[in-house]
Amino acid sequence: MTRFGDQVAIVTGGASGLGEVIAHRLAAEGATVVVADIEAPGAQSVADAIVARGHNAIAVPCDVTRRDQVEAMVDEAARVGRIGVLVLSAAVESVTPVIDLSDHDWQRVLDVDLKGPFLCMRAAIPHMVAGGGGSVIAMGSTLGLIVAPGHPAYCAAKGALVNLCKQAAIEHASDKVRVNVLAPSATDTGLFMKFSAMAPDPEALRAQIAATNPMGRIGTGDEVCDAVVFLASEHSRYISGAIVPLDGGLAARRTV
Ligand SMILES: NC(=O)c1ccc[n+]([C@@H]2O[C@H](COP(=O)([O-])OP(=O)(O)OC[C@H]3O[C@@H](n4cnc5c(N)ncnc54)[C@H](O)[C@@H]3O)[C@@H](O)[C@H]2O)c1
Repeated sequence: MTRFGDQVAIVTGGASGLGEVIAHRLAAEGATVVVADIEAPGAQSVADAIVARGHNAIAVPCDVTRRDQVEAMVDEAARVGRIGVLVLSAAVESVTPVIDLSDHDWQRVLDVDLKGPFLCMRAAIPHMVAGGGGSVIAMGSTLGLIVAPGHPAYCAAKGALVNLCKQAAIEHASDKVRVNVLAPSATDTGLFMKFSAMAPDPEALRAQIAATNPMGRIGTGDEVCDAVVFLASEHSRYISGAIVPLDGGLAARRTV
């Protein structure tokens, strides 16, 4: 029996970036992975790649901001097997100062990054309770703990996600459903690479960000997967309502 061999793991945002590598890792650890993403062809190609490696996955197109789609996705996951793991990775960001942030961008980021995790937890946690427990891992961010110029909606959403997850954690602790937030800093996979690619000199920006980290480098997708597997597994069975920084010490440091 592999580590998650009896479980279904839902990964929202699984079509790309960190969600994609997490989906691959959980499948390699034995879970049947539901790759849930608004990008249907991307989700399908990730599920196909997992299956091609001899593991189990299905793709379910899903906009996490839509209650009907989230509930249909979770119902489909429950038909596949016992939902034991829910990774909330779907997110968007906008890069603009507070005073230039449009109503539209504010709402878009809050909907995907905060309402999406709420809808997914509301739909999936009852299945976990009925199945005897489970682990929710919400992808937060260093920017949910401290802030950076130009990310007001993202920082607000990720900060609120922390308290939403603490709330769900205490409400379901006795059900053996654990809810934790993983808070990465800039990582070599996904959003940060897309964001930095828009800079005039992407490599210079990446080097600059790496240099500001206490460990002198950015994180890796592998390190994120290691932490997700830990939080999904029995090794973290007494950890719930926690924010786990995955940031080389970045959020712990005063800079001057
Ligand atoms: N990559 C990093 O450096 C980094 C750092 C800190 C935190 N994070 C967090 O990690 C998580 C994953 O980010 P990533 O880097 O993989 O980003 P990404 O942009 O590569 O992937 C995000 C995925 O979410 C999907 N998505 C967007 N809107 C959606 C919606 N409405 N419904 C369903 N799916 C939707 C996208 O299609 C995409 O596949 C996010 O929560 C992000 O905030 C990432």
